[in-house]
Amino acid sequence: MERWSSRTGFLLAAVGSAVGLGNIWRFPTIVGENGGGAFYLLYLISFMLFALPLMMLEVSIGRRTRCDVVSALGLARRELRASGWLVCIITLSILSYYLVVAGWTLAFLLMYVAGWDITFQQFVSSYWPVASFIAAALITGIVSSSGVRRGIESINSYLMPLVFLILIVMALYSTTLPGFRDGVRFFLTPDPRSLLDGEIWAAAFGQAFFSLGVGQGILLTYGTYLKRDVEIRKASITVALLDILASTLAGFVIFPLVFSFGLEPAAGPELAFVSLPRAFEGMPSGRILGASFFALLFSAALTSSVSLLEVSTAAVTSTKGLSRRRAGLGLTSVVLFLGLPSALSYSPLDLMVYGNRFLDLMDMLAGTFGLLITALLISVAFTWALSRELIPEEVSASRLTYSAARYAVPLVLAIIISWRAIQLI
Ligand code: TRP
Repeated sequence: MERWSSRTGFLLAAVGSAVGLGNIWRFPTIVGENGGGAFYLLYLISFMLFALPLMMLEVSIGRRTRCDVVSALGLARRELRASGWLVCIITLSILSYYLVVAGWTLAFLLMYVAGWDITFQQFVSSYWPVASFIAAALITGIVSSSGVRRGIESINSYLMPLVFLILIVMALYSTTLPGFRDGVRFFLTPDPRSLLDGEIWAAAFGQAFFSLGVGQGILLTYGTYLKRDVEIRKASITVALLDILASTLAGFVIFPLVFSFGLEPAAGPELAFVSLPRAFEGMPSGRILGASFFALLFSAALTSSVSLLEVSTAAVTSTKGLSRRRAGLGLTSVVLFLGLPSALSYSPLDLMVYGNRFLDLMDMLAGTFGLLITALLISVAFTWALSRELIPEEVSASRLTYSAARYAVPLVLAIIISWRAIQLI
């Protein structure tokens, strides 16, 4: 089995998986919709108390068992093996719509570089969203097929430093904007009333899991390529802090822009594609800013897409004995098929299901609901079903981490799943 070349190689890949559209596109959107500062506080709490212990569990189980998610679940208990495929289906479903949005960022990047003035409305009135989705899927497939070191590790080693560089430069630029103070106040001042709102708790918790990418077998898979001498606890904390840093910087970039140009902070998913381009238009160096912003989004999206694909690649190559190339080709085709309806839902076809655009429906079903279910499965399987001696020392030695992963995480997940199920009905 391939290995990361070094501790840094693993860190870059794990940060690459964590930092993605979830930080730069989804996070500010959700903060905006859930009233700002209070949400941010709950997000930090969920992150440290629940997402981080689950990350340590996943990475250490991966390294200990050296198994893909299907085999690892089968190891915990035979009957659970099939549920590993469910995890693969859910991650592929997340990937399918994630790549549609990644495609939009790629298209916007190219438009800014070429100097074309096209609005989101015009963009989705063409079939460019489908073409750019296909391009994003193919690029992801090619990187993944090139291998753990030559593909995944190497792309992360270029793109991750770039992502942080752009974020920092843009955040510094934001401090010069007239709306900086108002933007930051909105982002960071908690409104105590919203702390009583269950919806905000559920959203913050879900976002922390989505952002770190825990509970989906990704960190487990990345853990299988980890060498023995790396300290998992320290590495996990580093990844978590860098992920929080990326979301926080994104907040510092986006809210000052929103408040400087009188935009709506609760604009939803269209914030990055509709509102911000309007802001860039009115700025002297708007074209460079726009190009940098979309280069940032696309790079972050690509490294996360690669990780989402890797769960299934690892499962298929090791359980079915396929080569990485073949697996990559097959899985990319599956993703293209699964993602096409999402791509078409933001095109002249306006594909809707029950009054929702297909992409939004996928985000709700797979990205919000499905993710919680697989996280519950993983946290229960590796703390309750796996015999105690098999639980890695990194987790069992710390009472706090162990009880968080064994009791607190499943309990909170069960509560939130019930809450979401009631809402759905
Ligand atoms: N964490 C990434 C983001 O914030 C997306 C992502 C990568 C993800 N792997 C995941 C989301 C696994 C859910 C599950 O954009």
